[in-house]
Amino acid sequence: MCSLVSINDISRAEILSIINDALERKKGKKTEQFPGVLASLFYESSTRTRESTECAAHRLGMHVIGFSGIEGTSVQKGEPLADTLRMYRGFGANIIALRHPLEGAARYAADILNIPVINCGDGSNLHPTQTLLDLMTITEKRGSVDGLRIALVGDLKYGRTVHSLVAGLKMFSNITLWLVAPDSLKMPAHFIEHFPGTIYHAHDIAEVDVDILYMTRIQRERFPQGPDGELEFDKVSRIYQLTPSVLEGKNVGVMHPLPRYKHRIEISLAVDSLHNAWYIDQAENGVFLREALLSSMMLNKISRRKKEFIPGAWKELSVKNYPKEAQETIYRIDNGTLIDHIHAGKGKEVLSVLQIDAAAKFVYASNISSKVYERKDVVGFPDRELTEMELSKVALVEPDATINIIRDKQVYKKGKVVLPSIIDGLVICQNPRCITYKTHNEFAPQKFHVVSHDPLLLACYYCEVPVEREKIKLE
Ligand code: NCD
Repeated sequence: MCSLVSINDISRAEILSIINDALERKKGKKTEQFPGVLASLFYESSTRTRESTECAAHRLGMHVIGFSGIEGTSVQKGEPLADTLRMYRGFGANIIALRHPLEGAARYAADILNIPVINCGDGSNLHPTQTLLDLMTITEKRGSVDGLRIALVGDLKYGRTVHSLVAGLKMFSNITLWLVAPDSLKMPAHFIEHFPGTIYHAHDIAEVDVDILYMTRIQRERFPQGPDGELEFDKVSRIYQLTPSVLEGKNVGVMHPLPRYKHRIEISLAVDSLHNAWYIDQAENGVFLREALLSSMMLNKISRRKKEFIPGAWKELSVKNYPKEAQETIYRIDNGTLIDHIHAGKGKEVLSVLQIDAAAKFVYASNISSKVYERKDVVGFPDRELTEMELSKVALVEPDATINIIRDKQVYKKGKVVLPSIIDGLVICQNPRCITYKTHNEFAPQKFHVVSHDPLLLACYYCEVPVEREKIKLE
């Protein structure tokens, strides 16, 4: 059985089949019965997501165990997430529905359990089941998702529903997306990267011309604690308040994952009675959608689109051994490792990631002339051949460096280190809201995807926040 942590875990065909199944269930298709157990573990507040998931499980004849909020659970005694999850698996859970405040929590859960996990929201990161029901609602109302013009309005920085929705919309063609947000709540760039349609940015709803207005609540709970956060919330929470006058004469569907915030209502109640108001149907669709999802999981109908693991490699370069005199001036190493073609000024960083202190034996030439770059640094270690781990560290800070292994005054081997597609336990995720961040004490290991080798770009395996080469921090 496969987990649903990100909408990217499943294919477009699987998304469409779940949506069609959900629409049939809404029209009265008979609900099958499964003798299974759903563990519904909600560490954060929820009405719609939790109730509709549990209601769907009940309709399918499943037992539901779990908690809604951590009060009264051992989480309050300081229990790590992994222990709680393993307990529920031990109590017979076939599927876990998890909502957790830390980003990457659901991916971590899926990693350590051998039962599927449904991500019902991991902090401000993702919310894929909301995306499925959003796409179901759009399909129900408009017949198809392709070709639509959609505006996402409000808190695009912290709103997990819109992050997931953008990922989902990437699988449809010819989408025009309007991102309407104040500067301080703009969508983080990595969510919109490689969007195949057109993207426009705006500050005001009046600027957009769309088929769907997808409103969101300003996620007050994600703002920094204290008076600064309070002040910022106060400023931005008044900006978007949709009233009937904006919709007059327009065939625009209004969506909202709900809840609305009653003290600064972002969709006026007067909109509720208009044909434009889709958000109540949208919320109700949650039950049918989650029933279809649970059923497809219990029947093993969806399989995770897992990226293939590509191991690290050594890219061999041809060896040219210069006459002895030249060798002596360039290398001054008879045996050992010489790291060449380090960008000028970066040699110190290479020494530092290898934790070479002043007492160790090393050669370091800075800012010398180079045929490849104008100036370069060179670092060498007499009588020492670097381990695979050390070579990976060098490749992380200087991916273009050339490694020379020297034996008996001859370059025995020369090449570049190609990193594996997943890096385990070397790079630290610097996102303080990530499940791996050390102050959370959740014991999730550090793990990164290599998104691109040239230029080097990594992304945390759990929270998916990218990190460029210059910002990589090693363990
Ligand atoms: C959303 C959530 O929890 O991310 N609600 C939901 O699941 N329907 C949006 C929100 O809380 O604003």
